[in-house]
Amino acid sequence: MHLIQQQFSVSYEFPVCFTRDALAPENMALRDILAGAGEFTHKVQPVIDSQVLADHPDLLDKLELYGNVHGDIIAFEDPFIVRGGEVCKNDPAEVEEFFRLTQDRKICRHSFVLVIGGGSVIDAVGYAAAVSHRGIRLIRMPTTVLGQNDAGIGVKNAINFRNRKNYLGTFATPFAVINDFDFLPSLSERDRRAGMAEAVKIALIRDGEFFNWLEQNAQQLAAFEEAAVEKLIIRCAELHLRHIATSGDPFERGSARPLDFGHWSAHQLEEISHASADHKDLRHGEAVAIGIALDCHYAHAVNLINAETLARIITCLQGIGFQLYHPALDQLDVGRALASFREHLGGELCITLLTSVGRAREMNEINVEIMSNCVEQLRAYKK
Ligand SMILES: NC(=O)c1ccc[n+]([C@@H]2O[C@H](COP(=O)([O-])OP(=O)(O)OC[C@H]3O[C@@H](n4cnc5c(N)ncnc54)[C@H](O)[C@@H]3O)[C@@H](O)[C@H]2O)c1
Ligand SMILES: [Zn+2]
Repeated sequence: MHLIQQQFSVSYEFPVCFTRDALAPENMALRDILAGAGEFTHKVQPVIDSQVLADHPDLLDKLELYGNVHGDIIAFEDPFIVRGGEVCKNDPAEVEEFFRLTQDRKICRHSFVLVIGGGSVIDAVGYAAAVSHRGIRLIRMPTTVLGQNDAGIGVKNAINFRNRKNYLGTFATPFAVINDFDFLPSLSERDRRAGMAEAVKIALIRDGEFFNWLEQNAQQLAAFEEAAVEKLIIRCAELHLRHIATSGDPFERGSARPLDFGHWSAHQLEEISHASADHKDLRHGEAVAIGIALDCHYAHAVNLINAETLARIITCLQGIGFQLYHPALDQLDVGRALASFREHLGGELCITLLTSVGRAREMNEINVEIMSNCVEQLRAYKK
């Protein structure tokens, strides 16, 4: 045998900035990011979420003006508009159109894609960009709470395949992220709230003080008070970014997925609701809130957390305005869902459960009967 042990490492770095009115000509964030890649004119393909455009009809004019003012650095292609929401992950039409369009327009590895939209559009376009030419540089401009505090700042992208959430995807770091708070006011109440579930998630597993703050500010968050929502986004983003940078497993090679706390059932609930005509649009964040409640009931049932801690968590979720029962729960087959999650992890089951507020641990076994009882307990939250 002749063996050559290959080894190299690559370090990753990208800025995540928080700003307002990112496309005002005097806002230098986008210009500076592109100028950082070289002081010459960069070809940039904008891709825009259709709902964002509908709610911000001046967006195309703003892009054009920004491109004109900063023409020494930026040359925008005609924007490509994609359907907003989970549909662009469920139906590959836009991803295929992206391949055609970037090929026809000769968008290459020296060009950029600027994606402006919710987590779904960011996921789908991120996937399309990552596999085109083995990776076109991507600048993300997330326009939802969840996009700005989680989906848009991480290292993953995906589309769904045969109703399997995130079946096709890659790990690919963005070139840069620009979080523009001025996009948020047009979001529906449901979508604004949904993104807060990821903040509760990461606070519970990583930062007890942040959870205390969420608890104390649940009312302000439920009322979408700007200062509270922005603080939530920045802290949640910081915690996600820190986890990715310091967990030792940014590309999730091991089975432990603490950031997927509450997600094993959430993904199933989303799949069930997408497949059903009656309750089609359970949002990812709404499903995560239910998933967190379920796993906390289980943690209490197996004596990992006490009744008081469970009550605090449920009160906080409800205080922010989450419904903790959804008809999709009636169709949740716990045994099958856990088996499917195990398969997704690649063999060994690894479920993150709380041991206290701010602390979690990985469990390799879940008692299906106890978990099914916990699903029953969630029915008590039916309104
Ligand atoms: N890649 C990751 O690491 C990661 C992490 C978490 C979640 N996700 C994925 O993110 C997706 C959910 O993202 P989301 O919560 O942002 O929802 P979303 O992208 O599905 O958007 C929800 C709705 O809001 C619209 N919208 C977006 N921005 C708007 C704005 N500023 N004003 C008005 N309407 C706007 C969209 O068009 C859509 O109709 C799920 O598919 C989930 O799996 C990915
Ligand atoms: Zn999530």
